Amino acid sequence: MKGQLSQSELSLLPTSFDIVGDILIFADFPEKLEKKEKIIGEEILKNFKHLRVVCKKTGSYSGKYRTPILRIIAGERRKETTHRENGVIVKLHVQDVYFSPRLAHERERINKEIKEGEEVLVMFSGSGVYPLNMAKNTKAKKIYGIEVNPKAHKYATENLKLNKAENIMLVLGDAKIVLPKMRKSFDRVLMPLPKSSEDFLGIAIPKVKKNGILHFYDFSHEKNMSESAEKVIRACAIAKRSADIFRIVKCGQYGPGKYRVCVDAKIF
Ligand SMILES: C[S@@+](CC[C@H](N)C(=O)[O-])C[C@H]1O[C@@H](n2cnc3c(N)ncnc32)[C@H](O)[C@@H]1O
Repeated sequence: MKGQLSQSELSLLPTSFDIVGDILIFADFPEKLEKKEKIIGEEILKNFKHLRVVCKKTGSYSGKYRTPILRIIAGERRKETTHRENGVIVKLHVQDVYFSPRLAHERERINKEIKEGEEVLVMFSGSGVYPLNMAKNTKAKKIYGIEVNPKAHKYATENLKLNKAENIMLVLGDAKIVLPKMRKSFDRVLMPLPKSSEDFLGIAIPKVKKNGILHFYDFSHEKNMSESAEKVIRACAIAKRSADIFRIVKCGQYGPGKYRVCVDAKIF
C-alpha cells in the first residue's frame, strides 16, 4: 500500500481480523484510517483472491443473540458466506448469526473428548457449528441443539442438510423453556454462551446424567479462573448434585489477562 498510504497511516493498519468463508472482518478498524478504508479493502481483495468481501466491526457482539454489527468497506455487498472448519461446511450470515472462527480449536478439543455412543446437548447451538463438528468427527450417538435466534436456527437446519448430518436434532426456542420440557438427560452438556451461561446452570445440571460431563463457558480474568469453577460447584449444590472440576481451559483472549474459559466438570 506504499504510495497510497503515508508512513504514519501504514503504521496504523490493523493486524487483527477474522476470516469467515470469503469475508474478512476487521475487529477494530482505526478511526484515523476511515477515509482510506475503501482502498485498503480493495487492495486486500486484489491480493487475496479467495476473499470477496471486507467488513469492519462497528458494534461488538451484543444482545440476546450475541451478534455483531458489521459494515462492508469493499467488495460484494453481502454478508452471507460458507465457512469450512474441521471438515464441516457452515453457511451463515455474519451479522445475523454469532460465529467465531477462533473457536475451531476449542471445538476440536471437545470432539476429542466425546466417546462412542454419547448423547450430547449443545444448549446454545447457533449456526449448528458444534453439533456438526461432533457429527462429522466423533462417534456420538445423537447430538441435540437448542437455539433461540430464528435466523441462526434456520441456517443450522440448512447446514444439517449441506453436511448430510443425520444424528442431530435441533430445537428452536429459549433453552429455559425448551430444556425443562425435554424428557431426557445427556452424557455431555455444552453451554457455549459465556456472557450468561451462569444463569442457565440451574436448568442444565439436572439434565447431565450421573457421571456425565458439563462444559461450562464463562468470561474470566486469569487471576480469578477458580471463580468460574465455583459457579458450577454452587449450582450443583443447589441442584443436590456434586461436581469434580477436572480442567479449566483458556479458549480465547478478549482483553489483557481476560479469557473465555471452559470449565470441564464431571457431575455426580
Ligand atoms: C456465543 S453464541 C454461540 C453459538 C454457537 N454455539 C457457536 O459457537 O457459534 C451463543 C448463542 O446462544 C443463543 N442464545 C442466547 N440465549 C439463548 C437462550 N435463552 N436459549 C437458546 N439459545 C440462546 C444466541 O442466539 C447465540 O446464537
